[in-house]
Amino acid sequence: MTQDELKVMVAKEALQYIPRQGILGVGSGSTVEKFIEQIKLNGVRVEAAVSSSERTTALLKAQGIRVLDPNTCEPYAVYIDGADEVNDRLQLIKGGGACLTREKILTSMAEKFICIVDRSKLVTTLGKFPLPVEVIPMGREQVARQLRRLGGEPVLRAGCITDNGCEILDVHGLRIEDPLTLEQQINAIPGVVTVGLFAHKGADLVLYATDEGVRHKERV
Ligand code: 5RP
Repeated sequence: MTQDELKVMVAKEALQYIPRQGILGVGSGSTVEKFIEQIKLNGVRVEAAVSSSERTTALLKAQGIRVLDPNTCEPYAVYIDGADEVNDRLQLIKGGGACLTREKILTSMAEKFICIVDRSKLVTTLGKFPLPVEVIPMGREQVARQLRRLGGEPVLRAGCITDNGCEILDVHGLRIEDPLTLEQQINAIPGVVTVGLFAHKGADLVLYATDEGVRHKERV
């Protein structure tokens, strides 16, 4: 099966988790875009949504789904999003699409974070995928120095300005043995808006597509 077919498969599987009432949190990326397509193709009703990017908001609105400002919402039941890497403890690297800050906010508001990926995203140790860090532009070089001290090689993502008007440093060369500590250390650097490590609050359920079907892995 192609990676695209696997993404469609896992997107369909996720439809059953859409709450019948209330708000659905929707992330960003190509897998999530397949999920939004499947909502339409299968005629699934979504009462209202909160969205992690301008692009997702536009796609949801194009389907007639009401998109709310999270500032007007209470915490809600389910957030569905993809990931760039997933380890056995359901800790994640996210931010390949530069939407990590809004994704972390929506994750923190959700009772359950359901992560949808294809099998290529599963890893033993996080860090092969360069770790995205959203930074305030005037502090970029100072943040980069500190990231080098932590053992990584930050590279400015060319031509990328986030929906929050910030920049992304992609940190190469990390082998993340202790995601909880690294998330805290990077968050503490002045000028960092968000690090794309989702370790303190990772996924609650990961759906991953394989050639043999979709498998479920739940946080224990
Ligand atoms: C966007 C993300 C995406 O969830 C992540 O990059 C995975 O994307 P895709 O489904 O295209 O592989 O974190 O910021």
